[in-house]
Amino acid sequence: MATALSALRLDPQRIRTFGSKLRAWYRRNARDLPWRHTRDPYAILVSELMLQQTQVSRVLDYWTRFLTRFPTLHALADAKERQVLDAWAGLGYYARARNLHKLSRAVVREGPRAWGDDTGPLLPAEPAKLRRLPGIGAYTAGAVATFAFERRASLVDTNVARVLTRVFAPRLQPKRSRDQKRIWAIAEATLPRTGKATWTHNQALMELGALVCTARVKRCDACPVRMVCRSSDA
Ligand code: ADE
Repeated sequence: MATALSALRLDPQRIRTFGSKLRAWYRRNARDLPWRHTRDPYAILVSELMLQQTQVSRVLDYWTRFLTRFPTLHALADAKERQVLDAWAGLGYYARARNLHKLSRAVVREGPRAWGDDTGPLLPAEPAKLRRLPGIGAYTAGAVATFAFERRASLVDTNVARVLTRVFAPRLQPKRSRDQKRIWAIAEATLPRTGKATWTHNQALMELGALVCTARVKRCDACPVRMVCRSSDA
């Protein structure tokens, strides 16, 4: 991986500037979204699954209603699949709801054995263990690890991939699986040192991708990291 990273010419000073400018921008400009006020792993998991294919504005309604109806993993495990799908109705991609329900039953029934340990909390904090649960891919595992447990873990979705490639490696193509690996390596190499700073860093990457460095437009004039960006017009 060291060779891959040096091939990408990731300079430590550039990485530091990127991170500190990005996080300072986030503190001033982030949207006030309700899932950013909780560290409840279940509530975060629900928000991240909903947000995967659905716009923030739509998820806002659904997330609160869903958690009122099923406030804990236990409550969800007690529900019938039909009830869970009803609460999800309108969000689409119902496999997400089915998997979430399956996951709740697995961890409530088996506890930590559901992800391969003998003891521990209902949901694990490590991405590798989270990935053993139904419906949890690399992105969701990273998101729960950082946003709920404040772990130093990387995450890459389409927004983050776009931001990182534009800034650090404009020749990479996020849709190519070979380049996906490199983008994850960039995400890992650009994480801050602590879990707490990683929480802000990862939220900030998403926020920059949603508000400034979007798929449709690059608002380079409003971008906090344009001075270190390889594809900025500024
Ligand atoms: N999309 C996925 N995760 C998100 C988050 N935590 N905040 C805003 N948008 C998101």
